[in-house]
Amino acid sequence: MTTEIQAFRFSEFGTSDVLDFESLPLPGPAPGEIQIRHLAIGINYIDIYHRSGVAPVSLPSGVGVEAVGIVTALGEGVTGFAVGERVAYVGGPPGAYATHRNLPAARALALPEELDSREVAALVFKGLTVEYLIHRCFQLKRGDTVLFHAAAGGVGSIACQWLAAIGATVIGTVSSPAKAEIARSNGCHHTIVYTEKAFQAEVAEITGGRGVDVVYDSVGAETFERSLDCLRPRGTLVSFGAASGPVPPLDVSSLAAKGSLYVTRPSIAHYTADRKEYETAAQNLFTAISARVVRASGITTYPLSEARRAHQDLEARRTTGSVVLLP
Ligand SMILES: NC(=O)c1ccc[n+]([C@@H]2O[C@H](COP(=O)([O-])OP(=O)(O)OC[C@H]3O[C@@H](n4cnc5c(N)ncnc54)[C@H](OP(=O)(O)O)[C@@H]3O)[C@@H](O)[C@H]2O)c1
Repeated sequence: MTTEIQAFRFSEFGTSDVLDFESLPLPGPAPGEIQIRHLAIGINYIDIYHRSGVAPVSLPSGVGVEAVGIVTALGEGVTGFAVGERVAYVGGPPGAYATHRNLPAARALALPEELDSREVAALVFKGLTVEYLIHRCFQLKRGDTVLFHAAAGGVGSIACQWLAAIGATVIGTVSSPAKAEIARSNGCHHTIVYTEKAFQAEVAEITGGRGVDVVYDSVGAETFERSLDCLRPRGTLVSFGAASGPVPPLDVSSLAAKGSLYVTRPSIAHYTADRKEYETAAQNLFTAISARVVRASGITTYPLSEARRAHQDLEARRTTGSVVLLP
């Protein structure tokens, strides 16, 4: 059966102006897919990389990689889900900025009843990112010291909460005193306003000259080189985004000179591709949300139709915490 839906699509890369909000017919789900009516849709920086062509997708394309919704139809061969059930998802082809969509059932996650749809939409992509970054990409333990850039953003806010709960010491960079306050309220122990002060010198002072065990750098061009200088010998730089632009080429031999450092450039796609790993990670996140170890502090919502404005605000560094679209 065909359903009339509204969805954002784009057919060329560019600014938020390339996003068109269209009425479309959505066919029934193909074999292996489920159809979902969205309740809340999370916005992520990766949506901007997709739209602008920094992380190109094939065109024309939908936009958005996570949401919470109700299953409205099952494609042939789908088991384990029922019409009327509430699910969340991360990944699949971009297309979450829509009232409804079809999705490979392998990406859907059954949701515990006690969890709020908006909060899950605010947390599931970013929370699963933090889950793999701090438990699997680098295994953080009590007593470790971490430098986390953009600590008041969506991913950063969740990371501060979860790292503090583990017992790590968290140093967070932010672009304003107001954002520093937000990072502190999420458990960040030391904040550095990196638009005002050289963060390497501050990190050296905070760690007594030792350096941190791990740096999480999603800012990219503006911070990458200096992030390496914040590490202790044999420390790890996790470069997981490029909000300020792509990371410059790396001279591998410089890693020896700087202290036998490790560098990794992970993607959530590779840490959630295996269904079992994906389910286990989601379970860890849902348990952390239920226990209030991780919470969406200060969700900013926009009507679905105003996704362009939400993109402009995220790109201009005006947002803090998570941003959610409501259909
Ligand atoms: N690799 C992965 O698996 C993966 C998965 C999810 C997300 N990510 C990355 O994680 C990062 C955070 O994602 P998010 O959705 O939670 O976004 P966000 O952190 O809420 O927003 C990005 C933040 O980056 C900082 N920033 C620094 N320089 C910037 C610049 N020139 N332009 C814009 N922002 C700048 C800003 O914080 P300040 O104003 O405090 O500087 C801004 O608020 C993104 O880079 C994203 O690509 C990676």
